[in-house]
Amino acid sequence: MAHQSSARPRVVLGVSGGIAAYKSCEVLRALTETGQHVDVIPTASALSFVGSATFEALSGNPVTTGVFSDVPSVRHVRLGQQADLVVVVPATADLIARMAAGRADDLLTSTLLATRAPVLIAPAMHTEMWQHPATRANVATLRERGVVVVGPASGRLTGADSGPGRLAEPSEIAALARLLLESPDALRHDLAGSRVLITAGGTREPLDPVRFLTNRSSGKQGYALAQVAAARGAQVTLVSANVALPSPAGVDVVTVETALELQQQTEARAGDADVVVMAAAVSDFRPTRRRAAKIKKTEAEPDQIALSKNPDILAGLVQARAAGRLPAAVRIVGFAAETGDDRHSVEEYGRQKLARKGCDFIVVNDVGAGGAFEADHNQGLILGLDGSARQIPRGSKQLVAARIWDAVAASAAGPVGPLE
Ligand code: CTP
Repeated sequence: MAHQSSARPRVVLGVSGGIAAYKSCEVLRALTETGQHVDVIPTASALSFVGSATFEALSGNPVTTGVFSDVPSVRHVRLGQQADLVVVVPATADLIARMAAGRADDLLTSTLLATRAPVLIAPAMHTEMWQHPATRANVATLRERGVVVVGPASGRLTGADSGPGRLAEPSEIAALARLLLESPDALRHDLAGSRVLITAGGTREPLDPVRFLTNRSSGKQGYALAQVAAARGAQVTLVSANVALPSPAGVDVVTVETALELQQQTEARAGDADVVVMAAAVSDFRPTRRRAAKIKKTEAEPDQIALSKNPDILAGLVQARAAGRLPAAVRIVGFAAETGDDRHSVEEYGRQKLARKGCDFIVVNDVGAGGAFEADHNQGLILGLDGSARQIPRGSKQLVAARIWDAVAASAAGPVGPLE
């Protein structure tokens, strides 16, 4: 049984022997900083990369690797039974093979067999090993058993190689691990085969080469949507406007600056998507003139910047679907930042916007409650065109993302998948 009390959540952090083992220290640190009790279980080969003193110092707990240490307490069974979550960073090809085979030849694999808690693995290995049919089959087996697989990302590997096999960013692994503690079934593999397009960030509308109009969007909600969708199996494209966050593992990131670029890149890809989520904060206006040279204070007219209206990209997608330029089955999700007042509640304003925009869902952030922009937490409502209303409890942006994907997946007959 997992630990059910209100005490600190207990996480087992397994570390297997690859060069990315050093990054497990960052995951460890991130988890302890947010209050988790972490027991680290390295494999014997992981200790060739990082010493147990580092894991002990960062976790504040003793580290053992073998099943024969601390025998009276049956450590391999106890750690697995008590855990609320087991995270393996990095998961090498060998560890994945041993997990798939159900081996129990060291403390980590024994713990993985003994636990009934959610298990998240973050693979890291050379591209050839990741793409080998044996590894692919092992990963598929683990997924069928409910193991959550985060990454790998594409990028620079050890030496001069580059390709899929790089460990997901430690901050992403930690965020998704925390999500599993908030909601253990938030990363089930129900978006496999579906293609999702997400916009994120805030557009910049230049006045000249050094100045622009923008907004306070950090892109965190859009990036969380991409992380969660990818971990749930979707093929994800992220159109990202001016976001200073690492790319989510396995996600195709297209960077844009302005609303017009965001429109162009989104419209170019929407036809290949099963779901489009407009999480970006799109500037409604842009300076009519974009000056090629920097505006000098001597020549400026201080009180006059002429503005032109930007297209409403979300409304345009809905119109394109109605006109048959996008598949009828594409689901479109918008966002709204609302505050209630003495005339209407946040929900009523959200409903009005949903009706105006004509999208399938609108995610209403209650910005009067001090959430949303730049924060790590969010709360609000998911309103459906079908009249549904789902309350999003206050939680991480990853939890909000998971609830949005739940709503989208539930709106389809069967899993969200290629819709032909
Ligand atoms: N959006 C868009 N194109 C714009 C402006 C907004 O696609 N030019 C999208 C956003 O990505 C978001 C939704 O529309 O999904 C927000 O709608 P909007 O009407 O801009 O809402 P608010 O910003 O809340 O604006 P308002 O001041 O009208 O309440």
